[in-house]
Amino acid sequence: MTPRENFGSRATVIMAMAGSAIGLGNIWRFPFIVGEYGGAAFIMVYIVCCFLLSMPILLSETIIGRRTHQGTFGAMNTLAPGSAWKWLGLLTIFSPLIILSYYSVVGGWSFAYLCKAISFQFKPENAESVTSMFGAFSSSTWAPLACMVIFLGLTALIVYLGVNKGIEKFSKISIPVLFVLIVIIAVYSITLPGAGEGVKYLIKPDFSKLTPGAYASALGQSFFSLSLGVGTMLTYASYVNKNENIIASAGGTAFFDLLFAILAGFAVMPAVFAAGITPSSGPGLVFETLPFIFAKMGAGGQIISVTVSILFFLTILVAALSSSISMMEVGVAYLVEEKKVSRHKATISLFLITLVVGILCSLSFGTLSDIKLFGLTIFNFCDRLASNFLMTVGALLFSVFVGWKMDKAAVKDELTNGGTLKSSSKLFPFVYFLIKYVAPVTIAVIFILGFIG
Ligand code: PFF
Repeated sequence: MTPRENFGSRATVIMAMAGSAIGLGNIWRFPFIVGEYGGAAFIMVYIVCCFLLSMPILLSETIIGRRTHQGTFGAMNTLAPGSAWKWLGLLTIFSPLIILSYYSVVGGWSFAYLCKAISFQFKPENAESVTSMFGAFSSSTWAPLACMVIFLGLTALIVYLGVNKGIEKFSKISIPVLFVLIVIIAVYSITLPGAGEGVKYLIKPDFSKLTPGAYASALGQSFFSLSLGVGTMLTYASYVNKNENIIASAGGTAFFDLLFAILAGFAVMPAVFAAGITPSSGPGLVFETLPFIFAKMGAGGQIISVTVSILFFLTILVAALSSSISMMEVGVAYLVEEKKVSRHKATISLFLITLVVGILCSLSFGTLSDIKLFGLTIFNFCDRLASNFLMTVGALLFSVFVGWKMDKAAVKDELTNGGTLKSSSKLFPFVYFLIKYVAPVTIAVIFILGFIG
């Protein structure tokens, strides 16, 4: 049997995990909700949320994965053999696949828009029609499907190449590239005339906007952004070797994810305000508002506007890919390790399964738009199911597992590498308290309030 692969170094661990974390969530949701909920005031809440609630979950997943060097299902079976915890292992094989199905639709759109940018389709003379272009495109049948197949195919190819030659290599290149791209776009955006209002939108603290909804949004956003509760971080951590400092790796991941989200805010919002547009989030922001802005900018210089639009959609595509590979890896690890399927076959099977659900998600913008599940289109249903339910429940259960089911000595051993890491040993009581009490109780309260409200 070939030995199990491991990530090469601390830097690669952080880049792979940050690759999973940095994605559409950072670019199309974070900038908008920051402004919605009070700018700098929200960023402060978000940071506290990341470090007090999301970090313990990230660490819980990391502890389980690194301890067992197995994927979600195998890990739960090893640590709690014959118990109901195996259901958490199973659940977290399906959750990332559900996310991957609808995420690939958006990945496909990003690919399509990159092609549109390259072929000069955002021109000043058709600025108005650029906005409506998206509705026509996303509700059509074949073009979005073809683009989704390409996106999913790229995802499968990287995953198929394996942990070192695929995921690690891609993340090592893509993460630095993503940071360079987003800084270039942010500098450009901030220097546009009228961009100051957008900067204010992001940084002016307005504590009156910190409603209960702001706290729930901060938590939901930080889970989605850090890819928590669905076993991706657990699976990546299973490739981390025993002498790695996992508190440092998790901290580095959370730091880069946050930094990228803030940079994305400065890349997007100043441009939106400079163009005199009301900010929005989601597909509307990325595929309607921004192409409109790129088209308008063309009046001041076609070359610059085309270059910025290409860089922007390239950023989205690469960020989406580095996240989608992490989602597919969870299921591949399961099939390879538990079902003894070859990596090749595992990847193709998951590609096909996701493709089927992805086709339904894509068509739900057009042909299948009348099919509703609990009043939602198939795409929106998958999104809600994953981000409002599966991620939160998964996150809660991972922290309960580590805090209440696992032996405290084993948790300490894992966090401190058998007591050899002095700083982690000092931090242990605090981190353990967060994992055992603070994270599960707060998450449960916010989850229940979200249901009631
Ligand atoms: N963190 C990704 C983003 O912000 O776009 C989304 C994500 C990736 C969610 C991987 C879940 C996951 F397993």
